[in-house]
Amino acid sequence: MKGLVLAGGKGTRLRPLTNTRAKQLLPVAGRPILHHILDDLRIAGISETIMIISPQTGGLIREACGMSWQGMEITYVEQTHPKGLAHAVSTARTALGSDDFLMFLGDNVLKGGVSRYREAFEREKPEAMVLLSKVDHPEQFGVAAFKGERLSGLVEKPKIPPSNLALVGIYFFRPSVHEVIAHLEPSGRGEFEITDALQGLMDRGKEVGHMRVDGWWKDTGQPEDIVEANRLLLEGLEDFRGGEIRGGRTNGILHLGEGALLEDSVVDGPVFVGAGAVVRGCSLGPGTAIGQGCRLQTVEITGSIVMDHCVLAALTHPLVDSLIGEGCSVQGSMDSSMRLVLGDRSCLGVPD
Ligand code: TTP
Repeated sequence: MKGLVLAGGKGTRLRPLTNTRAKQLLPVAGRPILHHILDDLRIAGISETIMIISPQTGGLIREACGMSWQGMEITYVEQTHPKGLAHAVSTARTALGSDDFLMFLGDNVLKGGVSRYREAFEREKPEAMVLLSKVDHPEQFGVAAFKGERLSGLVEKPKIPPSNLALVGIYFFRPSVHEVIAHLEPSGRGEFEITDALQGLMDRGKEVGHMRVDGWWKDTGQPEDIVEANRLLLEGLEDFRGGEIRGGRTNGILHLGEGALLEDSVVDGPVFVGAGAVVRGCSLGPGTAIGQGCRLQTVEITGSIVMDHCVLAALTHPLVDSLIGEGCSVQGSMDSSMRLVLGDRSCLGVPD
């Protein structure tokens, strides 16, 4: 079985961050999303993965992931235009050959990896298999419909959802799906939909199996999802003290990178502080990840991601659930606690 990671697309919902970077490289719990995905694939025993990239951000993704991931080979295939998930599969058809494949959307994170789902697919041998997760707002997702226990259909963003089980961005296929995709027509929104490919298999009488995911799953299409994925992943963080702590106090799990300094600060974990960061007189609350080389002085921050090499200083009110791009500068007084989404190298200075 091969891996297929979809890391093309436009990432419009994550602007301005995606103006300068690939959304699949946004850091959650201190590492790019794609690195978590590659770990999951390798741990599930996949030895070769094909990565779909776009002309705009493909170079950054190649650089960040390389040609092999702890022994798992990575091959890149460029999708010139993002014409849908099924189109991405057809772009990789030659590279996938006659192998079964596990397709992983490059902006999804899942607790506990994919090993047990791979085992179930190989044991039960359906023609394809989808993973499902219970969601509060099924109308925003691809939703499963059932006849008894059996999956009978999939509806993209239904007005009246047939269930509250949404399609997780992880799918198992046999090569038979290529023939179905070759006959697809674009949907109303002009894309070749993977839900139509699955429906096509069902219409041909093929079994599409399903499994419920046990833990949490996050599709990180929007800023609040990235912040939430970061918080959830940090809950599984291991305590690590590679830097120096002077004064202050720490509760809960803390990852303090090599060469980082935490001085006169209060930490309520889980919190990640990257290598070489300097944090003075600050309060860092649960679900916060501070990137490498950041400088933070007299700042209260919780549930947020601050990417590498930012300077945050003298904020009069807390920063909450925020997403701060690389190399940003934020300083000065604010009226109340603030939730910010800042693109790379933004400068926000609010004078007294
Ligand atoms: P989406 O989040 O559905 O699409 P997008 O990245 O274009 O985002 P937005 O709606 O904010 O503009 O894509 C899910 C994943 O699949 C993501 O990692 C991008 C990838 N993808 C491709 O590789 N090719 C495609 O044609 C599409 C539509 C998505």
